[in-house]
Amino acid sequence: MVQMRRVLVTGGAGFIGSHLVDRLIEENEVVVLDDLSEGRLENIDAHKDNDRFTFIEGSITSDTDVTRALDDVSTVFHFAAQPDVRLSVDRPIWDFEINVSGSMNLLDCMRRNDVKRILFASSGGTVYGETDIFPTPESVAFRPISNYGAAKGAFEMYLSSFTELYDIHAISCRFANIIGPRSTHGVIYDFYMKLKRDSTRLEVLGDGTQEKAYMYVEDTVDAVCLLDQKMKSGYTPVNVGSGERLTVKRIAELVTDSLGLPDAKIEYTGTKRGWKGDVTITDIDISLLKSFGWKSSTKLEDGIRKYVKWLVSEFGDVS
Ligand SMILES: NC(=O)c1ccc[n+]([C@@H]2O[C@H](COP(=O)([O-])OP(=O)(O)OC[C@H]3O[C@@H](n4cnc5c(N)ncnc54)[C@H](O)[C@@H]3O)[C@@H](O)[C@H]2O)c1
Repeated sequence: MVQMRRVLVTGGAGFIGSHLVDRLIEENEVVVLDDLSEGRLENIDAHKDNDRFTFIEGSITSDTDVTRALDDVSTVFHFAAQPDVRLSVDRPIWDFEINVSGSMNLLDCMRRNDVKRILFASSGGTVYGETDIFPTPESVAFRPISNYGAAKGAFEMYLSSFTELYDIHAISCRFANIIGPRSTHGVIYDFYMKLKRDSTRLEVLGDGTQEKAYMYVEDTVDAVCLLDQKMKSGYTPVNVGSGERLTVKRIAELVTDSLGLPDAKIEYTGTKRGWKGDVTITDIDISLLKSFGWKSSTKLEDGIRKYVKWLVSEFGDVS
């Protein structure tokens, strides 16, 4: 009998990680390492009685937890992170300790335990930061304007050196903004929560012209699994997005519309950036991802409607 591959998903109780677990469990033994700081057990509840599934509550910053989680694992999907750009601006050392030191702890445990493959959840918008090359290909130099982006970029540099030095193979998935059920952060979640507090008006940070690349979570999982199959030796960064962009203004309109609030007054704070560290335009070039055979299956506006429907089912109606 052919032995099943055993994989580790760090951050597997979180938004994107748990969707990835749902897919990977079909053909793999899956170990999840998550400290539940943001993730929720209900995201992985469906697998708790599955023999192929193991949940470890622990941190990527702990050598003991990571070593335990890596037992018999051949591939790591590294999705655990402090995911909040704004918090990284307010608390840079804390952000560094999780997103750089924690990630390095994982990578060095992989080296010491002879685990050779890693796919990393990086961030297209924040590592390129204030670039003026659009759409932005993977070859553009990092110019982060947030500590979160700097941390993602710093860890990618270690992926480059570790692949060269220790025969580890890495793909860095430089994600667009990912949306969909189970996400409890980001612009759409913020808009929904504001409208839940007051359904007559929506305050939008910035002037509404910020325009970003988005992707629906099921498409993201398709892309990560495809990259896992196509992975070659060395370190390869790949932009992972749908190719579609939306302005904040359009998102505000779609959210109010999906919630049946066409008369809600949309008010802009008027600044160029939504907040310190906010990149105003992201448009990642997805030619490399497409060259692997990837195709989008969910139109972004449909994805937003599905996500809003989930928010209502999870947290209640707004009116
Ligand atoms: N959501 C996006 O738009 C987006 C965009 C670009 C990159 N990313 C990256 O994708 C990954 C997943 O993001 P998400 O949106 O699903 O966020 P999320 O917060 O839902 O998931 C992150 C998970 O990591 C866990 N975690 C945090 N610190 C940990 C630690 N020290 N040890 C173990 N687990 C820990 C959290 O409990 C959570 O379950 C992150 O690395 C994030 O930076 C997300």
